[in-house]
Amino acid sequence: MPTDPGPGGQIVVRRVGELQGTIDVPGAKNAVLKLMAATILADGEYELTNVPAIADVRILGDLLEAIGVRTWSPTPGVLRLTNDGDLVPVAPYELVERIRASINVLGPLLTRFGRVRLSMPGGDDFGARPIDMHVAGLEQMGATFKFSHGELEATADRLHGADVTFPFPSVGATENIVTAAVFADGRTTIDNAAREPEVVDLCEMLVAMGADITGIGTSTLVVGGVERGSLRPVDHRTVPDRIQAATYVAAVAVAGGELTIRDARAGHMQNLLARFADMGLELTATDRDLRVASEGRLRSIDVQTLPYPGIATDYKPLVITMLSVADDVGIVTENLYPGRFRYVEELLRLGADIRTNGHHAVVRGVPRLSGAPVKAHDIRAGAAMVVAGLAAEGETVISGVGHIDRGYDDLVGRLAAVGADIRRV
Ligand code: EPU
Repeated sequence: MPTDPGPGGQIVVRRVGELQGTIDVPGAKNAVLKLMAATILADGEYELTNVPAIADVRILGDLLEAIGVRTWSPTPGVLRLTNDGDLVPVAPYELVERIRASINVLGPLLTRFGRVRLSMPGGDDFGARPIDMHVAGLEQMGATFKFSHGELEATADRLHGADVTFPFPSVGATENIVTAAVFADGRTTIDNAAREPEVVDLCEMLVAMGADITGIGTSTLVVGGVERGSLRPVDHRTVPDRIQAATYVAAVAVAGGELTIRDARAGHMQNLLARFADMGLELTATDRDLRVASEGRLRSIDVQTLPYPGIATDYKPLVITMLSVADDVGIVTENLYPGRFRYVEELLRLGADIRTNGHHAVVRGVPRLSGAPVKAHDIRAGAAMVVAGLAAEGETVISGVGHIDRGYDDLVGRLAAVGADIRRV
């Protein structure tokens, strides 16, 4: 056992064989955080439902409280937010450094108050996370930025519409430009916009609030500015989490068995599921549910990560874990975060045969992994370690579970309920 359990303690998992049953997928972290930030735009009381019980929701809640939006949860899965208009457009370092998504308050605060002071968000364990596209887009809309002492200060009496073309379809930059454009003078066009289901979810909430956005779900978003004060608060259900859904697919893929994953939106995971079918999984999708059956033996595939609708970088640790125990050799190419292979060292400790070179990983499947102490380096890497533990002989002890808690709502309880031998210590 590692001597240092790291933040959040440890998860102990053992291979027991097949998983059977039903798992509910909660709302998406990468949607709900943006929905929460959007409540800055209009005064009143909001109710978000299908809110996952994850640390990042609590951390962004603390940041919104510091800005002046009150948050409370009357029942699990429900978050009420009250914006009485008395907000301070300042996001302090202690809160911003805890969560990358704090950058999502930039667009709403700037467009609503004409100024914002925000501590610069840090990187992640998998590399630098620049914000140049957010800044360039807002500058095109008339904002002025000053950077000093680790803070950015943006000002713009009133933003104006602009034609913004991203060099890359950044999720966060798309969200910040859309929210900023909501109160800009005139029309903003965003070309090469991100099309992730979570971006769509945010746009749909903004439209329900009274924003004028067309092209939702396409690479060209057009936002017509409306008067400040003309938006109203809404109730909104968070889109289900496709990454958590994929985690349960990966779990049954390596353990074998049959799971019904409730509220998994197959339509949001089409490319991934097509490749999982190539690996030998039997998949049946209905409108809301996904049934997955696996004999526990998988075939290798080659796969590359791409912006949506391509295969998301967040799925990659799961895919590499599946390939670790598949027949033959698979090649995985990372196109978003070059450094996002750190968990490979941990898989090697479990007996996987993986070589990385730059953006590529070559994974030679082995018949079985063997349990060992490993670390969760980030949210997705942590979940992949849990999946690996389901495919490993003996005991796998994962430390640094606090990372998993940032994005997974009761991963341990959900897997235990379908027959996994897993516990938190
Ligand atoms: N990028 C820039 N400049 C920018 C913005 C992005 O160079 O101004 C680069 C990034 O460094 C990265 C790539 O563009 O190499 C993609 O970044 P993007 O802006 O699309 O990502 P993000 O908005 O920072 C969200 C998710 C990530 C997910 C990515 C990609 C949230 C809170 N985070 O990040 O999720 O990996 O999109 O799909 O929505 C996670 O949930 O574990 C996670 C890391």
